[in-house]
Amino acid sequence: MNISDKQKKILTLLADGEFHSGTELAVELGISRSAVWKQLNGLAELGLSHSAVSGKGYRLDKSLELLVASKINEVVNDQVGALISSLEIHDQIDSTNRYLVERAQNNALSGSVCFAEYQTAGKGRRGRQWVSPYGCNIYLSILWRFQQGPAAISGLSLAVGVAVIRALKEHKIDNIGLKWPNDIYSQGKKLGGILVEVSGETDGPCSAVIGLGLNLFLPESEAQSITQAWTDLSRITGQNRLFRNKLAGILLNHLLPVIAEYESVGIKAYLDEWRDYDCLSGKVATLFIGQQQFEGIVQGIDDNGMLLIKRPDGNVQTFASGEVSFSDSVLQ
Ligand code: BTN
Repeated sequence: MNISDKQKKILTLLADGEFHSGTELAVELGISRSAVWKQLNGLAELGLSHSAVSGKGYRLDKSLELLVASKINEVVNDQVGALISSLEIHDQIDSTNRYLVERAQNNALSGSVCFAEYQTAGKGRRGRQWVSPYGCNIYLSILWRFQQGPAAISGLSLAVGVAVIRALKEHKIDNIGLKWPNDIYSQGKKLGGILVEVSGETDGPCSAVIGLGLNLFLPESEAQSITQAWTDLSRITGQNRLFRNKLAGILLNHLLPVIAEYESVGIKAYLDEWRDYDCLSGKVATLFIGQQQFEGIVQGIDDNGMLLIKRPDGNVQTFASGEVSFSDSVLQ
C-alpha cells in the first residue's frame, strides 16, 4: 500500500504517541473529520494501529520516531560527512538496495546513502523478502565504487558486520553477535541482516550496494511470514525508545569508514574482531548449499572469511557460501 501525503502528515502529528483530537487533525490537514478517520484506518494496513477515545481523540498505539535527515546529520562526524555524497530518506520505496543499484547504473556517486521508512519489496539474501513495516526499523543502503574488481572486496559483508556491532556498542547495546556469513544475531535469533550486491567486470572497477536491515521494533503481526527465529532491539534491551535517528547516524559513522578503506586493508583488518563476535564457533551445525547438506562442528572462519566445519570423519572443510542452521549444543 502507498502512503499518501495526508497519511504522512497525520503520522508526523501522531508520532509523539499522545492523543490528538479529530478536530485538530482535520484543521491541520485541511480535511473533514470523517476523512481523518478514513486516513487513519488506512494506516492500519501498514501495521500502524491506533486507538480512538471519545473526548480525547486519536493516539497511535506505539509512538514513532520518524527519520529526519537533519537529525541524522547532527550525529554524523566530519570525516564521515565528507564520505557521504547524498543522503536520501524515502517514506516508501520498493527496496533501498534495488534503488541504489539502479542509481549506480545512472552514474550516482560513491557515498550515496538511502534510508527508507517502509519497503514494499525489501530484499533479503537468497531471494527472500525482508519484512519492512513502516517507521519501526532501519532499512539502509550505501553505494560505494571500488577501483578494483569484485575479488578485491570479497569478505566486505563480514567487515560490515563488524561495523554494525561497533555501532551498536557505541549505542550502548552489547552482547550482539555475528552469524556467518551476513547475519546480526542475539541469543540465537536474527536481529538484522546484510545484503551486498556487487556489479562490475571481473578485472575492472566495481560498485557495491551495501544493504542493512536492523530490527528495532518489529510488530509480531508483521513478522508472521518470517520463517526463522527473529528478535529486535526493543526486545533485547527492554526499551521502547531507541533513538532511531541517533542510531542511524552512528551506523553511518561506523559503516562508511569500513567500506571506504576496505579495498586497501581487506578482510585481515577485521578478522580478530569478527572472531570475537562469532556466535557459531564450536556449535553443531548444518550448512545448506542448494540441495546439499554438510553437518559438523563449526571451527570459525579462515583468514579469507570462509566457514570452517569439522566433519564427522574429522576433516575440516572450507565453505565459501551457504546457509547455516545450528543447535545450541557446544562440542569441544
Ligand atoms: C538478509 O537476508 O539477511 C539480508 C537482509 C538485508 C535487508 C536490507 S533492508 C535495506 C536493504 N534494502 C533491501 O531491499 N535489502 C537490504
